[in-house]
Amino acid sequence: MCGIIGYIGKKKDSLDVLIKGLKNLEYRGYDSAGIALKDSKIEIIKAEGKIKNLENKLKNVKSTNLGIGHTRWATHGGATEINAHPHKVGKVTIVHNGIIENYIELKKKLQKDGYSFKSETDTEIACAIIDKLYKKEKNKIKVLKKANGILKGSYAFGIIFDDDDKLYAMRKDSPLIIGIGKEENYIASDAPAILEFTNKYMLLEKNEYAVLDKDKVEIYNEKLQKIVKKVHTYAGTKETAMKNGYEHFMIKEINDEPEVFENLIKQFDIKDIETLKKSMPSFKKYNAIDIIGCGSAYHTGLVGKSIIEKLAKIPVNVELASEYRYKDNFSNKKTLTIFISQSGETADTLAALRKVKEKGFDTLGIINTEASSIAREADKVLYIKAGAEISVATTKAYSAQVLMLILIAIVLGYNEKTVSKQVANNILKDIKMLSNNIKQTIKQEKECKILAKDIYKAKDVFFIGRQIDYSLCMEGSLKLKEISYIHSEAYAAGELKHGTISLIEENTPVIAVVSDETIEEKTISNIKEVKARGANVTLITTKKILNKYKNADFYDQSISIAEDNILIPIHIVAILQLLAYHVAKQKGLDIDKPRNLAKSVTVE
Ligand code: F6R
Repeated sequence: MCGIIGYIGKKKDSLDVLIKGLKNLEYRGYDSAGIALKDSKIEIIKAEGKIKNLENKLKNVKSTNLGIGHTRWATHGGATEINAHPHKVGKVTIVHNGIIENYIELKKKLQKDGYSFKSETDTEIACAIIDKLYKKEKNKIKVLKKANGILKGSYAFGIIFDDDDKLYAMRKDSPLIIGIGKEENYIASDAPAILEFTNKYMLLEKNEYAVLDKDKVEIYNEKLQKIVKKVHTYAGTKETAMKNGYEHFMIKEINDEPEVFENLIKQFDIKDIETLKKSMPSFKKYNAIDIIGCGSAYHTGLVGKSIIEKLAKIPVNVELASEYRYKDNFSNKKTLTIFISQSGETADTLAALRKVKEKGFDTLGIINTEASSIAREADKVLYIKAGAEISVATTKAYSAQVLMLILIAIVLGYNEKTVSKQVANNILKDIKMLSNNIKQTIKQEKECKILAKDIYKAKDVFFIGRQIDYSLCMEGSLKLKEISYIHSEAYAAGELKHGTISLIEENTPVIAVVSDETIEEKTISNIKEVKARGANVTLITTKKILNKYKNADFYDQSISIAEDNILIPIHIVAILQLLAYHVAKQKGLDIDKPRNLAKSVTVE
């Protein structure tokens, strides 16, 4: 997600502050970066990819006393240098977080007025609007207020005008803070960007405007009255600031899921199945799919298998990368091999990718980290746009990977004519509602917390389910064991009686996932088997299924999902993530950095 930094102060410092600030914003995720420095004129330097690439271009650039910087996370237009911020039109240079919803309509009007544009971004349009207004009105704050009346969407801007040496800022729905220093002041999209320079800051609210000088900050409200703002002192560290008020990154990242889904979807045109198909790679040539990954990414693949096979009737083979790399490969030119990886650097997944490429077969990466090794080496890449995931246990990336596989499954099903236009469009409607609906599921954190109180003292926990629910159980079990250190196993519900059921004792916690109505009765009869042997059963299901078994005695407690569509797995997994989180929290463990684990597994 984009980041803003701005500086006004001592001449020697702007370049250093902007680059350090941008590095501090890296955790938000980005795919290009840029700065603008103002001296007698404005110099803009931008680069695709990492901040290192930007730094390589700065060797002969001199520091000034005024500058703005930005890390961009592509939404409107690709991750190119031209689309990177800052943008300059006429006398106005800006950096922007958020989106301008009416930019297409505004662009047409501006083109009629003689404006031409270099980039594909909505930001350049906003910049032109400010420039156009500035030609008629010399009071800059009045110009910004007028622009605010024209631009629709959520945004925050850092702005420099050609003809004075001040730093301007305005915000609507995207956050922006003003950092207060000694003979220097800052703007930033969040506190981590500036904490190493100052811990004093003011919050710019919606429809407020700021004018910064090195020793003065003026803030104007919606009515353009000058107002006095409270100066806060940030008590925490850079790390606590990055957690955005949450106690751990893991819980923050679960709460990021609504925004992640929105960002993922935004890259495609999901108006209807035809437009989605055009905005995705073509899958027409394939009659089989292999999915390769490690750990949670492997579990995502298993969920994807159920959905792709159900919708598209194409066989899907899911393999652990560490196994796949040493076995015979039976794929062929009509097989698409999909590599799933949050980091894009997992050694086994990378080795498996290279093995498939050596054979000359097609590869697709589903990746979070831009420009990572797997993203660079796969023939095609789809980014899940989850932003930086800091907690070692994956949450938002897992869920975004599942959403990406669902989008692929719909396109495959539509190509294969196993999914009608109407069914595909109905699924897309559900996907458009996902960001909103997942918030309701995450609100059930309270129930997960209560349940965690029963589980945290357990020695063993079992997760049972059939088919897709079994795959979800595998993820629930991994999440629990990796952060709570409680032994847990996921079992295909019908398989328990072939051995494992001997481990069930009085009060053994069993989490049973039942979301698939077609086999619900089968799973329930397995639940009854463990219940009869003393298990304490938590039923995780849909409201629709639960309604049928309201007073049944085969479960002790339940958590249910309101949703009743193909996106149920994403909701169920959010509950399993929350449950694992609260069990580990009850135990007082180091949730974000569990023992023996690393975020990126770059060794075999
Ligand atoms: C579990 C977890 C790991 C990763 C696995 C693959 O919470 O995070 O199991 O899923 O190490 O990592 P990536 O996705 O980076 O290839």
